[in-house]
Amino acid sequence: MERFDRAYFDAGVPRVGTDSVKWDGMLAETGDRDMLPMWVADMDFPSPPAVYDALAGVLARRTWGYTISGEADAQALCGFWARRHGVTLDPSWVLQSPCVVTGLRVAVQAATEPGEGVLVQPPVYGPFFASIKDAGRRVVESPLARDARGRYSMDLADMENRLRGGQARAVMLCSPHNPCGRVWSRDEMQAVMALCARYGATLICDEIHADFVYAPNRHVSVMALPAACKRVMLCAASKTFNVAGLEQSAIVCDDEALRARMAAQMNASGVKAGNAFALAATRAAYTGCDAWLDGLLCYLAENRDAAVAFLRETLPAVVVTPLEATYLLWLDCRALGLPQEELLSRVAAAHVKVNDGLFFGELGRGFIRLNIGCPRAQLMEALRRIAGALGA
Ligand SMILES: Cc1ncc(COP(=O)(O)O)c(C=O)c1O
Repeated sequence: MERFDRAYFDAGVPRVGTDSVKWDGMLAETGDRDMLPMWVADMDFPSPPAVYDALAGVLARRTWGYTISGEADAQALCGFWARRHGVTLDPSWVLQSPCVVTGLRVAVQAATEPGEGVLVQPPVYGPFFASIKDAGRRVVESPLARDARGRYSMDLADMENRLRGGQARAVMLCSPHNPCGRVWSRDEMQAVMALCARYGATLICDEIHADFVYAPNRHVSVMALPAACKRVMLCAASKTFNVAGLEQSAIVCDDEALRARMAAQMNASGVKAGNAFALAATRAAYTGCDAWLDGLLCYLAENRDAAVAFLRETLPAVVVTPLEATYLLWLDCRALGLPQEELLSRVAAAHVKVNDGLFFGELGRGFIRLNIGCPRAQLMEALRRIAGALGA
């Protein structure tokens, strides 16, 4: 049996010429063949063998007509969440959706009316803002607080001020948080739910990064707590098992009326999910890949530790945000005193592509995001280049 050890992940997988946004998109944009892509949030590892086998099985059918998405798909998801996160989900709560961002948009439109506010906690994943604005809703910002070590926390008093008086009718939470790397504690999750309950807001919780939580932290799903408020959880196998190109995710909601509104919303927009390949891959990922995922988490934790140690040594002025979850390192480069364009152009001149902190809102000025979901040799080479570009 294949072992998902260091050597397996060190080997990576060739991605140039696979129509990958991260690799081929970067090449099309920059024309730089030497550039290392440390940006878009997918990983440079092969997906689990069981996913490959499931896809090969569908390919071997030689016919791909209309496909049923049913109980087995929802059961696989619920089984995974029970096993990995100790959450009991009912299969009837699951709506299949193409992408998590689709789910965010659908949830916003079903939970709020045009002109109403939706609270977000910047700096946060850019499409949060767009999914609110594009729907004709208002973005209500409650910035995360940050301590001297660079660890972020929720500003619950500020959130309450903004929710009071109905300024926001929904809260969009990123849990775990991209790009701030936080795993929200049970207390924090309970506090947010209590605020939503008090002010009648719906909690929309994007849990796409839930499976990338490093010990001793534990993911506390919005669905793991008593239903104090209306809640929607968005999740996917896409990041976890590196199958984002298959475009399959789920919307989980235990409020029947809200779920029906979301289903109607998708129907009215002609959004259908669940193609034959995506469903088979997702079922296999949720049922037969725990050993692969455990191996991946060990490897990523070592990548994180190696990156943190290297950056502390070579770029002490850069504050590395503590990474409790995700494979996305949020680097505070403000002490270097560089304008954002120069920060990015220096890194690009060293042949490394990172995410611009401003993608996560104005509070990302002076920051870059580095994807460490790649073989260690690639990560260390990118770090050496960044240290050369930003060092004294
Ligand atoms: C918090 C968060 N939500 C959603 C997505 C995108 O998910 P999808 O490709 O399923 O829309 C990402 C991708 O980076 C993300 O970080």
